[in-house]
Amino acid sequence: MAIQEGKKAAGRKAAELIQNGQIVGLGTGSTAACFIDNLILRCKQGLQIEAVASSSASAEQARRGQLKILDINEVSHIDITVDGADEIDAKKRMVKGGGGAHVREKILASYSREVVIIVDETKVVDAIGHAKVPVEILRYGSLATGKKLEELGYRGHWRKNKDNSLFITENGNCLFDIAFSSPLLSPEKDHEKIIHIPGVIDTGFFFGYAGRVIIGYSDGSTKTLQ
Ligand code: A5P
Repeated sequence: MAIQEGKKAAGRKAAELIQNGQIVGLGTGSTAACFIDNLILRCKQGLQIEAVASSSASAEQARRGQLKILDINEVSHIDITVDGADEIDAKKRMVKGGGGAHVREKILASYSREVVIIVDETKVVDAIGHAKVPVEILRYGSLATGKKLEELGYRGHWRKNKDNSLFITENGNCLFDIAFSSPLLSPEKDHEKIIHIPGVIDTGFFFGYAGRVIIGYSDGSTKTLQ
């Protein structure tokens, strides 16, 4: 409950940053959903924006609130994207993809003039790597790709649905969630090793994307890191 208050506070604060006429990137997850709720409220009060969504869940939520959703290929840029994170450190290095949308989220982030990250206080860590780091893997040859990951020393599990079937992303791929045994001093090195394995689409590591970071606290207050 306390965590939810932090998410709501961060989502509210981020919605205040959005300006008339902007193309807004919508992240995915429970914190991004708080932002979308507040964005819808602002649009009901007269704010005019268009949005690009990183998942069908975020697109549906936005459409239910009468927001106009554009395909990413219809826009020349995104002004501002607001998204959550599973972990973020002092250098704004992040792990994302708990919701399985990190590939689309990274495409939106790379196309955005600013990425605002919204997190509750529990997501701020000294070193990332406590959270599982998802790797999106092409279904063709996925077991071979998984073996290569394991040969490099990366242990983890294929993400499953509640009914134990394989989780398939909106891009039609599967996810291998790496469980690191200790927090990471140089996550960039791990990303570099993994990204070059044929069949790997992308990791859930995000480096150099985060602009402002809004941390929401259980008492409803927020702190913005510039
Ligand atoms: C979605 O794939 C993720 O990157 C989310 O942004 C991340 O997992 C944070 O989600 P919550 O806001 O639900 O914790």
